[in-house]
Amino acid sequence: MYKIVEADFLAPDVKRFIIDAPKIARKRKPGQFVIVRVTDHGERVPLTIADSDIENGTITIIVQGIGKSTKQLNSLEKGQFIQDVVGPLGKASHIENFGTAVSIGGGVGTAIAFPTAKALKEAGNYTISIIGARSKNLVILENEMKAITDEVHVTTDDGSYGYHGFVTDKLKEIIGSGKKIDLVLAIGPIPMMRAIAEVTRPFGIKTIVSLNPVMVDGTGMCGGCRATVDNKTVFVCVDGPEFDAHQVDFETLIKRNRTYNVAEKEALNHICHYDAAFDSLKLQEAEGK
Ligand code: NAD
Ligand code: FES
Repeated sequence: MYKIVEADFLAPDVKRFIIDAPKIARKRKPGQFVIVRVTDHGERVPLTIADSDIENGTITIIVQGIGKSTKQLNSLEKGQFIQDVVGPLGKASHIENFGTAVSIGGGVGTAIAFPTAKALKEAGNYTISIIGARSKNLVILENEMKAITDEVHVTTDDGSYGYHGFVTDKLKEIIGSGKKIDLVLAIGPIPMMRAIAEVTRPFGIKTIVSLNPVMVDGTGMCGGCRATVDNKTVFVCVDGPEFDAHQVDFETLIKRNRTYNVAEKEALNHICHYDAAFDSLKLQEAEGK
């Protein structure tokens, strides 16, 4: 069991958890993730480690409550426990001094871009970040990004805050200004990552995306997280999660993700009597009955 040390909402449905997990905190590197199970029999949810504190033995994860399990996770509060936190999993981000690096976070993807952006700054890059959200109340980690990157640009789709437009529009503007960009890291919804890849492709700018397909075991055994990169099948959990954006087959990825939408909707609407019985047993156990 893993204790929640802090829990706070950063935006509607987006919650930050600081969790007591000293071994993971010691081992994790930027870009890696954990698989979380809220209860004994719960779904396994992959979540990027947004940050860690070795001294206090904690890791930070940021969760968008969109499905049954993430909503269940977001209902937990400081002092409560998460059943399992397994990791660190996946390959760490490739960090070096590229020159000028642009980190782009779309919505909750900003939480995933944050640790790699921080490491790129520490490696000596001139760092620019672009944070995009549908509107002002959905912008997350602006101050945290300001603390670790040289330039921060916030964009909103409705113009309620910062630059009025998509992250791609801001990126085009920066590239158009003649600034030499050596690396783009883009994390967010798949259509956003696909669009970024098309912005940078004509300029030959190295572009990395982080993929988050449905995962089961997280160790390369089940094949649930497969994607097509450079015309080859990869398992995102062990071969990624970061890949060259210009080689990712985004169309296949979108189709594969859609196949899980029906099951996710059914899970959200399903009232599980097994869950209720199990929770009641746990409550009785905790109350010493
Ligand atoms: P969102 O849909 O509000 O989009 C965030 C920003 O991305 C927008 O403000 C815009 O600037 C940009 N964007 C979106 N679509 C675009 C397009 N077609 N072209 C150009 N720019 C575009 O984001 P959200 O609701 O916070 O994101 C949720 C999605 O992100 C979910 O689908 C989730 O699965 C995904 N996600 C991905 C990762 C990852 O590792 N890649 C991690 C967490 C969440
Ligand atoms: Fe099973 Fe990746 S989650 S192979």
